[in-house]
Amino acid sequence: MASETLTVTDNRTGKMYEIPITLGSIGTMDLRKIRTGPEDFGLLGYDPAFVNTASTRSAITYIDGDRGILWYRGYPIEQLAEQASYLEVAYLLIYGELPTAKALEQWTWQITHHTWVHENLKKFMDGFHHDAHTMSMLISSVAALSTFYPDAKVSRESGHVDLQTYRLIAKMPTLAAFAYRHRLGQPYVYPDNDLSYTGNFLNMLFRATELKYKPEPALERALDVLFILHADHEQNCSTNAMRSVASSGVDPYSATAAAMAALYGPLHGGANEAVLRMLRTVGSTARVPAFIKQVKAGEAKLMGFGHRVYKNYDPRARIIKRLADEVFAVTRPSPLLSVALELERIALEDEYFVSRKLYPNVDFYSGLIYEAMGLPVEMFPVLFAIPRTAGWLAQWREMLADPEQKIARPRQIYTGPARRDLLPLGARV
Ligand code: CMC
Repeated sequence: MASETLTVTDNRTGKMYEIPITLGSIGTMDLRKIRTGPEDFGLLGYDPAFVNTASTRSAITYIDGDRGILWYRGYPIEQLAEQASYLEVAYLLIYGELPTAKALEQWTWQITHHTWVHENLKKFMDGFHHDAHTMSMLISSVAALSTFYPDAKVSRESGHVDLQTYRLIAKMPTLAAFAYRHRLGQPYVYPDNDLSYTGNFLNMLFRATELKYKPEPALERALDVLFILHADHEQNCSTNAMRSVASSGVDPYSATAAAMAALYGPLHGGANEAVLRMLRTVGSTARVPAFIKQVKAGEAKLMGFGHRVYKNYDPRARIIKRLADEVFAVTRPSPLLSVALELERIALEDEYFVSRKLYPNVDFYSGLIYEAMGLPVEMFPVLFAIPRTAGWLAQWREMLADPEQKIARPRQIYTGPARRDLLPLGARV
């Protein structure tokens, strides 16, 4: 049998080294022994933006980007979207198995009974300007949660970790809905324990004068499916932020706020908002060819297209595209859908996009659904952050239990000046 090693020759010294290969990877610490002499620090791996570096072993989410495959804990995303609820999926991500009926009941009870936030959080919310971005308000209020639970950074005992997990998953929709209502100048709506996770979220967003809010079942289910699709995506930018920040030992509220900040950017979870703004700017199918020309000239980006890992159709985008039809059957059809379909049609035939393997990602169609539900674009990244909280927490918990992990601290390759002596102010030119 071939040996699971890599043999390399350092042509600077003529020395040969044998490096073990484990699970298709080499440990970059094994490069350190490749040195020109005792003064040499040893070889480093150089990988800006972690394009080919695994930062962890993980048993949570599997992606095969070439084949467009996504599994959570081994279950295909298509089956989960079809047959499971978001809370079942959140449990699966966190505990590794789908819940039994009894476990689901207990889990749902815990999440439902941690949805309230301290009344003082409303004061933070009230302090934001009327047109503050909802994602910024949510990031800040999640960070503020750490002030209410100062013990969260001390204990890593499993019951305590579970408690923070319930709180974060439960309070995220409450804070998100408060941020939304604050922008509208409307009173906050308190959680309704009789409703499902997404039904209650719709209640807190949209309830007006009715005594009991009744979510539209099709929209409640559509939101649940969207939440399932956004729940985890292995080591993306925000998950990397969650793990990196939490590796310092900080509490999970502060780490989640950091992950949310990473998500907010237009290249990540802010892309859904950017897609809708782009579709509005393009405006009509007639203007699609001119826009595609601009993209190819490097003057614009086709937002909602491309992915670091998927070099094939994002399986989440395929599900969302189908879901859009179901949503538009109960809302009004989106006037921008035809623009999106035309952009996709042209892009999938165009050599520029084909050669770069650029396909629609999760953000391309989701905004059209959110818009049809009556949500403003500023809520779109928020609608990504709420369900991703389960994924961030699953990754955080996996990191806490992983004996190989310690504080994240990359190396650098210094390219600045060599040592020099400073000149007094008057002598500098
Ligand atoms: N429109 C036009 N050209 C693109 C696009 C795009 N959306 N995405 C990539 N390219 C080009 C890029 O210019 C480059 O071309 P060249 O080789 O000529 O320089 C080539 O494709 C490779 O792109 P890259 O920037 O090296 O790819 P990356 O892996 O660093 O970036 C990405 C991935 C998602 C940041 C990028 O595709 C992008 O900016 N897409 C638009 C934003 C977006 O939709 N983000 C949501 C990602 S999915 C949800 C999530 O997880 O957040």
